[in-house]
Amino acid sequence: MNEHVIAVTGATGVTGLQLAPRLTERGLNIRYLVRDLDKARVTLGPALDHGAELVAADLDDRASYDRALQGVHTLYLNSGHSPVLEQQQTNAIEAAVAAGCERIVKLSGNVDSPAPIPEAHKALEAKIAACGLRYTFLRPNFYMTNLQYLAAGLKDGDVFTSAIPRDVTMSMTDPRDVADLAATVLAEGGKHDGEGYYQTGAAVSLDDVAETFSRVLGRDIRYETVDVEVWQDMVTKRGLPSWLIEHQVKMIGFAANGAYSYVTRVTEDIAGHPARTLEEFITDHAAAFARTG
Ligand SMILES: NC(=O)c1ccc[n+]([C@@H]2O[C@H](COP(=O)([O-])OP(=O)(O)OC[C@H]3O[C@@H](n4cnc5c(N)ncnc54)[C@H](OP(=O)(O)O)[C@@H]3O)[C@@H](O)[C@H]2O)c1
Repeated sequence: MNEHVIAVTGATGVTGLQLAPRLTERGLNIRYLVRDLDKARVTLGPALDHGAELVAADLDDRASYDRALQGVHTLYLNSGHSPVLEQQQTNAIEAAVAAGCERIVKLSGNVDSPAPIPEAHKALEAKIAACGLRYTFLRPNFYMTNLQYLAAGLKDGDVFTSAIPRDVTMSMTDPRDVADLAATVLAEGGKHDGEGYYQTGAAVSLDDVAETFSRVLGRDIRYETVDVEVWQDMVTKRGLPSWLIEHQVKMIGFAANGAYSYVTRVTEDIAGHPARTLEEFITDHAAAFARTG
């Protein structure tokens, strides 16, 4: 086992749950930092069977990170969308410096976007770059798992709706590829110092997504685009918090200009395999899009 301790945050989330078994496979020395030990024991399951540590720590509580990062070499920093993301991750960065960590690998996003979450990531990247530790930034594009929310309409119908224009493409990323990249960067150490990796899959429009859904699920599925005001009204009624709606409206505006269309070879060049396709993602998650009504 590698002697360096790697502290991993966000392991119970979308990409974290994919990352944990990949870290086990590589025999890395992992300390999972989680908010709820009992929940994490269940969700992480076999990832804890090979000597990984499980430690309670909350990003809202700086002192818990001061304790949890003692003896840690590398911090893998990832947490979910939150209006206080910048403060939460600042707590972890400052604790990492105070604890004498040597390296931070941060799961970030497209930091060129003017939406609040990417702006928080951009500010956090700047803090990390200035803090004196070695660092790598992972900047995946739109997760394919977002389709589980965007295409929630497929549970009781054959149409899904958003305010993204139908002809605009986005290079969606499979979270399994994000986990492959993160595991590679964590395992390979200094080779990735100072890098910022914009990771994507192929560029697809939401009409392409509808066509792929139709082919894989064997139903005639359509995408409908609506004005952003109509969309805002829809998601407000569904209970989406106002800060998240504000974030998503800005993301939609950014996407509508084609800003998420770029395609990179990061998965292939660094994780060592071609990016997973949308068809693979929908095939492997078909149950999540099956009709229940
Ligand atoms: N969605 C996208 O398309 C996309 C694209 C690029 C980048 N990103 C970035 O990817 C990151 C993860 O996003 P996601 O939506 O996939 O979320 P996620 O990974 O599912 O996030 C939730 C994780 O964060 C943990 N967490 C939340 N609050 C915490 C706290 N106070 N202390 C410690 N841990 C906490 C959760 O732990 P619990 O289990 O305890 O709740 C869970 O493990 C975000 O920073 C996002 O900006 C997302």
